Amino acid sequence: MISLTQFLIEEQRTHGAVNADLRLLIEVVARACKRISIAVGKGALGGVLGEAGTADSISVNVQGEAQKKLDVISNEILLEANAWGGHLAACASEEMQDPHPIPDAYPKGNYLLLFDPLDGSSNIDVNISVGTIFSVLRANDDRAEPNTQDFLQPGTSQVAAGYCVYGPSTMLVLTTGHGAHAFTLDRELGSFMLTARNLRIPQDTREFAINMSNRRFWEAPMRRYIDELLAGTEGPRGKDFNMRWVASMVADVHRILTRGGIFIYPIDSKTREQGGKLRLMYEANPMAFIVEQAGGAASTGRERILEVTPQKLHQRVPVFLGSKNEVEIATQYHHAADEAGFI
Ligand code: AHG
Repeated sequence: MISLTQFLIEEQRTHGAVNADLRLLIEVVARACKRISIAVGKGALGGVLGEAGTADSISVNVQGEAQKKLDVISNEILLEANAWGGHLAACASEEMQDPHPIPDAYPKGNYLLLFDPLDGSSNIDVNISVGTIFSVLRANDDRAEPNTQDFLQPGTSQVAAGYCVYGPSTMLVLTTGHGAHAFTLDRELGSFMLTARNLRIPQDTREFAINMSNRRFWEAPMRRYIDELLAGTEGPRGKDFNMRWVASMVADVHRILTRGGIFIYPIDSKTREQGGKLRLMYEANPMAFIVEQAGGAASTGRERILEVTPQKLHQRVPVFLGSKNEVEIATQYHHAADEAGFI
C-alpha cells in the first residue's frame, strides 16, 4: 500500500505532472478533507447538524440556498488550510460570491483552487454520504491579485481535480491528468492510502441516476431517453435498467466510477433561467475531468462539459456523465431534437 504523498512523488517522477507546489496543494486539500470528515462523522455529537445562522435568520449563500452549519464549517476549514502554504494565488467556493484572496501575510503561488466544500448538504441531517469537490487551475502569471476573470477557464485547463466522499469510509478520488485514482482514509494512520489505481468506467451500463420527480419539467429528448430506459426489455433498448439516486453528486458519481452507470441532472423548465442545477466550475468540470480520465464521457447534452466556455464563476450547466455509450445516446437525442426544432 502506498500513501497519497508517495503516490504524488511517483506521479512527478513518471509523468512530471505534480511539482512541489501542486503536491503541497493536493496534500493540504486532503488534510482539510480529513478535518471535514471528522466534523461530518461527529454528527449530532459535534453540534454540527442543522442550518447555519439563527432560528430567526437562517444563513443563505450566494446562490440563495440555505446554508447548513457543515457547509460553513467545511468552507472555513478549506480556506484556512490553504491560506498559508504559498501554493495558491486565490480560492473560489460555492459558498462565496467572489474569489477569496490569499491574506497579505502569506506568499502567493501559481494555482487557483475552486471547491464545493460540502456537496449534497441536504443529506447531512439524515446521515447519508456527502462530499467535497475541488478543481485546480493555473493562475495568470501577470496578475498580482487574481479576479473572477482569471478563474473563467474551460475545464480542459484543469491541472488537477478530485473529490472526497464521506461515506462508510472516507475516500479521495484524484486526477492530475494521468488516470483517476482512489485513496481510502486509514483512520488509525491518519493517511490516505491508494486503494484503486486507474479506475475504469465500463462503456455500457444498465444503471442510471436521476431525480425522476422532475420528469414533467424536462425537455422532450430527455423524456425520450429516460422513457426508453424505463421500457426495459420491451422497449427499443431491449434490456432492463436499474435506478439509483442518492442526491449527493459525489456519492452518485463515486458509484459510477466503481461499477458504471450514467448520472444526469438535465436542464428543466424550473432551472432553465439559471442554465441548469449543478455548478460548472466546482462541480461539473472536476467531475467531468475525473470521469473522462476513467474512460467515461461528460456532456451537457449538447457539448462536452470540459469545452464549455465559462461566463460566470457560479455558472450552472446540465450534466450527463458516466458510461460513454449512454452519454453518447442521450447527447444524440438532444442534437436530433435541436435539429428537428422540437425544443
Ligand atoms: P448542494 O451542493 O446544494 O448540496 O447540491 C447538491 C446537488 C448534487 O449533489 C445532487 O446531485 C443534487 O444537488 C440533488 O438535487 P435534487 O435535490 O434536486 O435531487
